Amino acid sequence: MAPVRQRDLPYGSAHSLSHTRQWRRGVVQEVTPWGVLDLGPGYIEPALLPVGVIRDAYARALEEYGSAALGYGHNPGALPLRAQLAARATAQGGRPCGPEHVVVTAGTSQALYLLATSLAAPGDTVLVEALGYDLGQRIFRDCALRPRRVAMDESGMLPDALDRALAEGAPDGAGARGRVAFVYLTPTHHNPTGATMPLERRHRLLQVAAERGVLVVEDDAYGELVLTDDPAPSPSLAALAGYRGVVRLCSFSKTLGPGLRLGWLVTDPALAERIASHGLFVSGGSLNHITSLAVSGLLADGGYDQHLGALRSLLRQRRDALVGALREATDDRIRIHRPQGGFFLWLQSDLGLGEDDLLARAEGAGVRVAAGRRFGTTQVPSVRLAFSFNPPALLERAAHRLGTAWSSDPPGHQIGVTS
Ligand SMILES: Cc1ncc(COP(=O)(O)O)c(C=O)c1O
Repeated sequence: MAPVRQRDLPYGSAHSLSHTRQWRRGVVQEVTPWGVLDLGPGYIEPALLPVGVIRDAYARALEEYGSAALGYGHNPGALPLRAQLAARATAQGGRPCGPEHVVVTAGTSQALYLLATSLAAPGDTVLVEALGYDLGQRIFRDCALRPRRVAMDESGMLPDALDRALAEGAPDGAGARGRVAFVYLTPTHHNPTGATMPLERRHRLLQVAAERGVLVVEDDAYGELVLTDDPAPSPSLAALAGYRGVVRLCSFSKTLGPGLRLGWLVTDPALAERIASHGLFVSGGSLNHITSLAVSGLLADGGYDQHLGALRSLLRQRRDALVGALREATDDRIRIHRPQGGFFLWLQSDLGLGEDDLLARAEGAGVRVAAGRRFGTTQVPSVRLAFSFNPPALLERAAHRLGTAWSSDPPGHQIGVTS
């Protein structure tokens, strides 16, 4: 297949918008300063957000559903979207999934809040990866839960460490307020390390969780962004478990755009029903009803898959451009972990510089990266680089700037890359 070129995308005029039009202060969450090469945030570049596709999808949803698109939505989410998502889960995971397994959410952040408040009680412990999505843990802490780290390696959370943590229980012992409410992890295209857990470990982890009777919350925000030649990703933990004992959280934020605030969870029907019976849904109906109907149209007519195929191809070009340029600009004292998918490269440094130094030097060279410690405990100074947010030429420029900034070490120090 010929490589996708950004200018061929059916995105209307989005990619020709000026910096100020893409970054409206007071409208978007963050504004990247002009001139900074920002490899910090886990965002899709604004030029890749499918503005025209979404505009047409809303118009079609209003045409097709009329006033039903503007009423309170069916509590667990509009059936057309849940049916599409269930069919997708069946095709991807090989385990039959129906709409009764699916609850529509307002994205993974909202789903984490919902789980933290409905399946856990203040004071409960949540077992999390030694390195993981920092803002997910922030949500837990804001709900008065206590995240506790479980050791991981380059393939993700270690089942034996999970077993030990569950055997120990919550730090202040068992009891309603000290229990472990659930385990939270991102086994596929992990944020920040990019790691994907191999199949065997997935089975072992599920076995430990089942034996210990603990619920697993699987954050699959990047699950569909497979960048390998082999398009078959590992089945989700939820599919492997037959949806029992696992809640899989998915989102359109990393594919169609975070402004949609649309996601979904997949779990066994009894738990799905329990979650959707929360007063939040009984009072307000489904979350993001009209957006659900718009996106279900894109799933039905193939528009979503067309967009996803193009996005994957562009992300792969970006990942490869950044890795290639870092290899040229640096040597083997920085280890690059090249991911099979998602948005991030994870760099571990053996330069004798701390994370603060790495960040300060990068910033001085006009490049922003994210400090590893933001995500948990790092064994060696580490940084996360997002390749989702800039086109290949700018990523290459950023890599060369980083190479120069980090190599101005005391004599004898060199920088390098392995994959
Ligand atoms: C692992 C992970 N989970 C969840 C989110 C947030 O998802 P959403 O936009 O659906 O709330 C992010 C965004 O950075 C993420 O990296």
